[in-house]
Amino acid sequence: MLKTHTCGELRASDAGKAVTLSGWVNRRRDHGGLIFLDLRDRFGITQVTVSDDPEIDLPNAANPSNGSSNSSSSRNGAEALEVASQVRSEFVVKVSGAVQKRPQGFENPELETGEIEVIASELEILSEARTPPFVISGGQGNEVDEAVRLKYRYLDLRRPKLAENLRLRHEIVRFIRNYFYDREFLEVETPILLKSTPEGARDFVVPSRIHPGRFYALPQSPQQMKQLLMIAGCERYFQIARCFRDEDLRADRQPEFTQLDLEMSFVEAGDIMALIEEMMIQLSAKISDKPVQQIPFPVMTYDEAMDKYGIDRPDIRFGLQLFEVTDLVRNSRFGVFKNAVAAGGIVKGVLFPQGAELSRREIDGLIEYVKPYGAKGLAWIGLTGEAAADGTFAAESLRSPIIKFLSEEEIAGIVAASEAAKGDLILLVADEEGVTNPALANLRLEIGARNNLISSDLLAYCWVVDFPLLEYDREEDRWGAIHHPFTSARDEDWSILEERPGDVKAKAYDIVLNGWEIGGGSIRIHRSEQQMRMFQRLGLSEREVDEQFGHMLEAFQYGAPPHGGIAMGIERVVALFADAQSIREVMAFPKTATGTDLLLEAPSLVEEDQLAELHIAVREAAVREEKEGAE
Ligand code: AMO
Ligand code: AMP
Repeated sequence: MLKTHTCGELRASDAGKAVTLSGWVNRRRDHGGLIFLDLRDRFGITQVTVSDDPEIDLPNAANPSNGSSNSSSSRNGAEALEVASQVRSEFVVKVSGAVQKRPQGFENPELETGEIEVIASELEILSEARTPPFVISGGQGNEVDEAVRLKYRYLDLRRPKLAENLRLRHEIVRFIRNYFYDREFLEVETPILLKSTPEGARDFVVPSRIHPGRFYALPQSPQQMKQLLMIAGCERYFQIARCFRDEDLRADRQPEFTQLDLEMSFVEAGDIMALIEEMMIQLSAKISDKPVQQIPFPVMTYDEAMDKYGIDRPDIRFGLQLFEVTDLVRNSRFGVFKNAVAAGGIVKGVLFPQGAELSRREIDGLIEYVKPYGAKGLAWIGLTGEAAADGTFAAESLRSPIIKFLSEEEIAGIVAASEAAKGDLILLVADEEGVTNPALANLRLEIGARNNLISSDLLAYCWVVDFPLLEYDREEDRWGAIHHPFTSARDEDWSILEERPGDVKAKAYDIVLNGWEIGGGSIRIHRSEQQMRMFQRLGLSEREVDEQFGHMLEAFQYGAPPHGGIAMGIERVVALFADAQSIREVMAFPKTATGTDLLLEAPSLVEEDQLAELHIAVREAAVREEKEGAE
């Protein structure tokens, strides 16, 4: 037998037992005639003691009165010691021996098995190991280059933090599955080889060998299939579903990721939200020690979220809400403000608490947080002096390069809107909404972080609802679906779909945790004619509709129940519970930011024969570039 127990299992009550353990050598400490091996497997670490001198070094083992010696296993310390001296970190070994309570004072409270050690009578090397490219025991991981970690992912996954993340992910998925099994949901698998499903990203396509020139698309989500399952009468569907999106990657985005995907018939938005809210409350309590900030979860409209936080996934663990002064500075002498408003833009700001005395350099540095969003500058006003009796700040109590351009009324209005007090710094951005809001949203997070306002010990959930249904795509000069084209407008808004598309609100909801969008869903259109109107609104020709979505329109004609659903990003949920900065930390084999797999070296070139079979010719230039790049 290769092992009778795991390396995390033995306790003081096992003293005296003859056991066999197998695992990796986490660490070896050599004291001459006495060698300690920390033996590791997925379940824990057990100290193995190898010695050829039982009398001196292992007093308890030699003393039968405490029941810890085992006469059936003939100890041959000298042989085991010889083997142990050859063993190095990460060798795979098998140890047989007796469990012994550690001598008093030698217990290790850090280890679950810290009360005992195994006195080796036999030691066998099962597999040798080269020196790993990075330290596996100890170390947090952040000190090692991620490219090296990904190339040797199988070693990286041996490290405690990542091994723990895999376990946590397993627990979370198991909890989710049980939650839906208990509620009569049917778990259904949907195809991976599919037709394009629009979720706003590019599709990955797979060439067909049997049908020359034709391609499958990998699902960006099972959206259409789950709706078809509702028409099929499934009523309550869920799946832990793999999704594929060819989009620009970020810390919270991978080309391949997993959703908890679900759909229900005969429901309204509130039913889906209540179901998911209950799931997250139960999951949080089970998985995390951190309290949920507010139950029931706050519900915010999209407009309110944009207004107060500048973003549709607000981090509500801290305040510092944005404020708007557009109307106040519409006719300002300060050209930056006036011109921005005249051009249809807005002027908004955020407070840096007690930032009035920041150095010029520090203030200039803040601009780095708004620049990536296209902001051209950051106007600032520091409240350095005392307020007058009426609460206003006179010019000499302020520190600001723009004060000379502002009227007293404007200054008073800005200070009031910002709710700033003595010592605070007001920061303002004037630009179009699409620049001002994201710029300030990002600056707010930075200010929150610098001032330690963002607690890492809190789970702040919120719902964002009443999203716009459509957004105008300037480049393409047409309206696009914000969520996806199957999302229903609010009942009262269908009448303005054609005339005022920008004002139509969707029956859509997102769930946000600590500033991450962890899930999104909607009530769907279930009538053929409404779906057709929607496609037309999106500018699809009849032929395009027929080719891409004919099956959906047809299906809706055979009795479609009202239905809706949601999908949760599993990696994001796990990453948040694991306190990971990136979802890569909670995926066994993630891809890099450029979508490559460094372990397998994918994507890779394929043989000419394989391409020929698939009826594919790669443009020569592309291949040449790739080959030259490799050289
Ligand atoms: P949506 O596109 O909002 O909705 O996706 C749902 C959730 O999936 C997660 N997610 C991702 N996670 C990692 N990497 C990615 N590239 C990625 N893209 C999305 C997010 C997101 O909230 N079919 C609809 C759901 C529905 O309407 O029921 C959909 O996929 O956490
Ligand atoms: P300028 O007149 O361009 O030198 O700008 C004067 C001040 O306004 C500087 O502090 C700039 O950083 C700031 N500023 C410039 N453009 C903007 C803008 N779009 N929004 C807010 N402040 C700005």
